Amino acid sequence: MEIAVIPSLEHPTLPQAELESVLAAENIKYRFKKVKCGLMVIEMPDKLFPKLPNLVRRLSFTHEVFRVLLHTVNGELEERASSYPWEDIVQDNYAVRVKKVDSGSDLNSLDLEKKLGGIIKRRTGAGVNLESPHTFIRTVLNHDEVLVGDRVSSISKKHFFELKPHKRPFFYPGSMHPKLARCMVNLTRVKRGESLLDPFCGTGGILIEAGIIGARVIGSDLDYKMVEGTKENLIHCGITDFQIFRADARSLPLSEPVDAVATDPPYGISASTGGEKSQDLYQQSMVSIAQIIKEDGRVCIATPHYLDIQEVLEGTNFEVIEQHHIRMHKSLTRVISVLKLA
Ligand SMILES: C[S@@+](CC[C@H](N)C(=O)[O-])C[C@H]1O[C@@H](n2cnc3c(N)ncnc32)[C@H](O)[C@@H]1O
Repeated sequence: MEIAVIPSLEHPTLPQAELESVLAAENIKYRFKKVKCGLMVIEMPDKLFPKLPNLVRRLSFTHEVFRVLLHTVNGELEERASSYPWEDIVQDNYAVRVKKVDSGSDLNSLDLEKKLGGIIKRRTGAGVNLESPHTFIRTVLNHDEVLVGDRVSSISKKHFFELKPHKRPFFYPGSMHPKLARCMVNLTRVKRGESLLDPFCGTGGILIEAGIIGARVIGSDLDYKMVEGTKENLIHCGITDFQIFRADARSLPLSEPVDAVATDPPYGISASTGGEKSQDLYQQSMVSIAQIIKEDGRVCIATPHYLDIQEVLEGTNFEVIEQHHIRMHKSLTRVISVLKLA
């Protein structure tokens, strides 16, 4: 079975890295068939199809995921579409939408929507519903290639909008955008029921996203106000399985090892480092994290570009397995690093 993924174009590397991490977390075996700007196609066994809704629900840097029903190169689309058993796919009502991921295609999107819509109508007798269709048929035009498929389930942009930091009961400047927080959680490959720690939890932005995907949430902060605020925000988001306490990230008082860590330590700009040089605070915290993470656990950490990650990791046997750079403004680039013990 072929699955097509339409990534967000907000970042050049995060969508693919997040997709690969969530596929691994959901135990989905796959092979990339195509990776290009605006379109990724993967191949996976048919029997894994029921796992896809969970995969789709977790992703933050993806617009859409659909199962490919027809894949043509150099024409034949109408012929193939006319003989396709649409009655197996379309019930009640449907919508056909066309997207060009490449300016190279000569096909006209509107004409194609009408043509495919007409073929499906003749074959199934189902009605068109453009507002909230029961079956959403996505068609992607990429040069001389056309992919037609049914959308697995839609990715809720509403969630990321409604959970924006200033809309939560406890707000403090320096909170991370929920989309990036979700992506960082995903990059750790944490599974449902596993534990995820944020030892610099602030207002709980990362922990909210971890809780939503079903991880057991553990968080700490040096500041009592943040500890109480995080609890309030988690409860507001319906997350009740959490352990939140006051602690210095340099000496974490945990008796059980954790499966994953995702964290955004203070840069000393909007969030305080408590007077400590950020390089030292980070380095000492990493030593503490190395002692409480499981052997195969992953850490996803955000750091400012001016800190040397190799110096931050001194005294630990963490190695960097991937890195992504996000330009925030002229003088700050955030570096998202994924680490594991060597
Ligand atoms: C950048 S904020 C975290 C923001 C968080 N990701 C959010 O979305 O709200 C960093 C947090 O680290 C905390 N902090 C500073 N020094 C610390 C230390 N030594 N141990 C634990 N937390 C510390 C600060 O109180 C602050 O809440």
